[in-house]
Amino acid sequence: MLKATPAGTRDLTTLPLFERFVRLREGVQWVPIGEWPTPVDDAPRFAKAHGLKTFHIKREDMSHPECGGNKVRGLEFLLAEARRRDAKTLVTFSSAGSHHVCRTAYHGRKFRQNTVAVIVDQPNAEYVRRNLAAGLAAGAEYVLANKLTVLPKLLKQLQRNSSGNRAPCMYLPPGGTSPLSCIGQVNAAFELRRQIDAGELPMPDFIYVALGSLGTAAGLALGCRLAGIKTRVVGVVVSYKWYCTRGRWTRLANRTLGFMRKFDTSIPFARVRPRDVSTVRTALGRGYANFTERGVALADEMRKLEQLQLDGAYTAKTLNGAMQYIERTHMQDAHHLFWNTYDAIPAANLPKSKIPPHLQKYFSEPVQPFGG
Ligand SMILES: Cc1ncc(COP(=O)(O)O)c(C=O)c1O
Repeated sequence: MLKATPAGTRDLTTLPLFERFVRLREGVQWVPIGEWPTPVDDAPRFAKAHGLKTFHIKREDMSHPECGGNKVRGLEFLLAEARRRDAKTLVTFSSAGSHHVCRTAYHGRKFRQNTVAVIVDQPNAEYVRRNLAAGLAAGAEYVLANKLTVLPKLLKQLQRNSSGNRAPCMYLPPGGTSPLSCIGQVNAAFELRRQIDAGELPMPDFIYVALGSLGTAAGLALGCRLAGIKTRVVGVVVSYKWYCTRGRWTRLANRTLGFMRKFDTSIPFARVRPRDVSTVRTALGRGYANFTERGVALADEMRKLEQLQLDGAYTAKTLNGAMQYIERTHMQDAHHLFWNTYDAIPAANLPKSKIPPHLQKYFSEPVQPFGG
């Protein structure tokens, strides 16, 4: 892989979005956590193997030296808001191996915020083990639930953590996705705009991104509109087909726009229309976090050709969705940008005694073949 930009240098004072919309900075809470900008790399061998004009990769995996990935951008807003509210506990809901829970626990700890996650079962994988181990090492509490018990267990945790003399708790929606956290992804587009202007990559005709809880794609699509990036954001469904509709992710983009305009009316009313974006629904396979053969094969190819590690649940499927989209639209001769949302964090060395019994099966039962 060719390094088009140096690794991010940490700017602790501002974001490109705040420089453009100054009053927004005054209205929302933000705290620096990540290293920005994340680099953009060229993947010439992968492009050549697939007959593509260009294929670039936005390295969101490099958003933090130890615990990066796409969730860091939103956490800069969520954790700052929790700090403003003096919330000492963050209550959230996710699947067992969630990147969102692990990142929240890891970064929240620096602000003395504990994470309590109500989780549902999911197919096992290496990344599930690593996320659970890192989350537990960061002090996260995991409460196992199923479809029927998830709501009562969530309400119980919210009540338990906000009653009595305890400091208030803050609820983080699944995936940490809300209009507030989406601002971080809007900023990513402004960051990208600078990289395009600096000649680090051509104006991308298409950007490919995973659709999980929709926050990354929604923020990015809105950000591209606001930053004048003339591109089509192509979302690839990796969680639930019923949830990841074009209407839902563009509505989230527009709710984010409305939320931002509350603080800064100079932000143009540049709504994202469903026809401005595309959704690929054919790369999910058997369902959320079930790896697919084609996805894993493409991820293996990416690792061999460009030394980039993807995961089976999100980015391998997104890459598969991207290749399907390119084949269907015959757009080989366009500029493509792949949004790499996955960071393979190192395995935390957690003694078995520190793993609660209800989570031990993820460490003892077999994982799906593939390192991600
Ligand atoms: C590695 C990874 N990529 C992509 C996504 C999807 O992002 P979003 O939830 O913002 O749609 C997630 C969500 O959990 C993720 O963990």
